[in-house]
Amino acid sequence: MAPIDPHSFTDSTHPLATHLSLSLYFDFSSSTISAAALISLPTAYTGPISLDARSLSITAVLDPITKTPLPFSLSSEPDPIKGHHLTISLSKNSSFLILYRTSPFSSALQWLSPPQTFNKTSPFVYTQCQSIHARSIFPCQDTPAARICYSARINIPRQLSAVMSARHVERRPPASGEAAMACEDAIWCAEGRVVEEFVMEQPIPPYLFAFAVGEIGYREVGPRTRVYSESVPAVLDAAAREFAGTEDMIRQGEKLFGPYEWERFDLLVLPPSFPYGGMENPRMVFLTPTVIKGDATGAQVVAHELAHSWTGNLITNKSNEHFWLNEGFTTYAERRIVEAVQGEDRAALNIGIGWKGLNDDMERFKDNLEFTKLKTNQEGVDPDDVYSQVPYEKGFQFLWRIERQIGRPAFDEFTKKYIATFKFQSIDTEMFLNFLKANIPGIEKEIDLELWTEGTGIPPDAFEPVSNIYMKIVSLANEFKLGRMPREDEVADWHGQEWELYLENLPKSVEASQISALDAHYRLAESKDYEVKVAFLQLAISSRCRDYYGEVEKTLKEVGRMKYLRPLYTALVQGSGKEEEKILAKRLFAETRDCYHPIAQGVVESILSKHL
Ligand code: BES
Ligand code: ZN
Repeated sequence: MAPIDPHSFTDSTHPLATHLSLSLYFDFSSSTISAAALISLPTAYTGPISLDARSLSITAVLDPITKTPLPFSLSSEPDPIKGHHLTISLSKNSSFLILYRTSPFSSALQWLSPPQTFNKTSPFVYTQCQSIHARSIFPCQDTPAARICYSARINIPRQLSAVMSARHVERRPPASGEAAMACEDAIWCAEGRVVEEFVMEQPIPPYLFAFAVGEIGYREVGPRTRVYSESVPAVLDAAAREFAGTEDMIRQGEKLFGPYEWERFDLLVLPPSFPYGGMENPRMVFLTPTVIKGDATGAQVVAHELAHSWTGNLITNKSNEHFWLNEGFTTYAERRIVEAVQGEDRAALNIGIGWKGLNDDMERFKDNLEFTKLKTNQEGVDPDDVYSQVPYEKGFQFLWRIERQIGRPAFDEFTKKYIATFKFQSIDTEMFLNFLKANIPGIEKEIDLELWTEGTGIPPDAFEPVSNIYMKIVSLANEFKLGRMPREDEVADWHGQEWELYLENLPKSVEASQISALDAHYRLAESKDYEVKVAFLQLAISSRCRDYYGEVEKTLKEVGRMKYLRPLYTALVQGSGKEEEKILAKRLFAETRDCYHPIAQGVVESILSKHL
């Protein structure tokens, strides 16, 4: 056994699969998928092969040509992080067929009943595979070190449609004989069913596999961009307005980082329970509806997910221990795109919000310094438990430091060459550093590369941004500590991000009366902008300002984005003498749990179990 990734049973002595062909029969009444996965290897192979699986019932593994069974075994107890170890014995096979069924509790899937959707009439299901959840949809070598191409036949009720982060081939009636034993032919071809076919020709790591099925509509917003969402005209129209500038950003990205290699750049707006702000699924980014605020700030999240088209999707971290290569690079690239389309001030404000987040997370990990490093040891660690701003913002700071050292033109040239050299490969921190040293000779004498990548905390040559607007907001926040509230003329042109920066720079807890006074003036608890609302409510909870607990309840019931759940639940349960808050947190989670995505359920559970 020679593992290549602490989060996977993939074995370095086994061949890596190159192609996956899926037949998926969706059963909404049981929230399960009956499936057949045909997995191909580069050449015929004899011996055991290890795959990852989680909450899958495997019924058979077959030789796809002779249909004879191949021996397989599934570890009896699941590893709490990796799940089940599936071993298949091959003898001169270059492919094998696995027949299985997903569970209603598959960690990558959220099944929404009609009342949980916008239009209330049809069910909806969608995936979130990063970091290690693809294995709960299909057995695979679920490590970003491995890349696969795939095709998928999706069998669904006729009134629904499917989208994937792949090329759509056609929608057509089911054909006899194509179920590949995912289910019986008669069920596959039953009245009222339809098949949607997709292919993904570019090799991707398994965490970028994605689909959604529901009553889905779209609007055209650019030459290579449509925005999709549940088919509700008001949602589609608002989304189309919010993301009208997407093509501009793609062009900026191409100017900075080289050609856009994925052909389409579509957007899918999910129901409010989507656990992230955005997910960079190739060809079709997944987005939370909370970014649609009618003020074009959603563009920042789109800029981020778009930037992953180069950094993350073209060049991928080899394992989650090198996650900063994905997120730090993307945060840097996102800010370059934002700077080009929205100006330097906006970019500086984002850097400032990030700087605050970085400092807060350094505090969060003060007793677990491993996770203040860029390159981390994640043996025995669930990546969902240690998700933080560190890989994003310390990674950003590292690249920004290099940019300052060599100047922007040289850094831009370096980035383009880096992307062209490693595209469609998975790399680690060492490969990045070797490439850096080879292309910028002497850089290691100017910057302590080891301190940056292996050291804990924030290196002394990191940089707090300087811009008028940033300094002004931080100094106003400092004055609040002395009792001065910002005047109306001082905040007249503030948008959500300015308020967010202001609130996040206030002391962790203040007098309850100060909270009410601030809100009486500026109505922050009712802000349509969740970043502002949540930053305010978090402050209200830590200041024990109970007037706002009703609003906290409402918020935790209407969104499932973990960026909002984490701070609110943490503020409720952290610290001593908070019996009322702890009871509230427990009750709210009991009532809302079923509305959250399984990944978010797990994260809230671990926050509560740490403090209750
Ligand atoms: N790839 C991440 C989301 C992610 C990270 C999912 C780790 C699962 C595990 C995505 O690109 C991201 O960073 N989203 C941010 C957007 C923000 C930085 C603009 C988010 O969701 O908040
Ligand atoms: Zn990202």
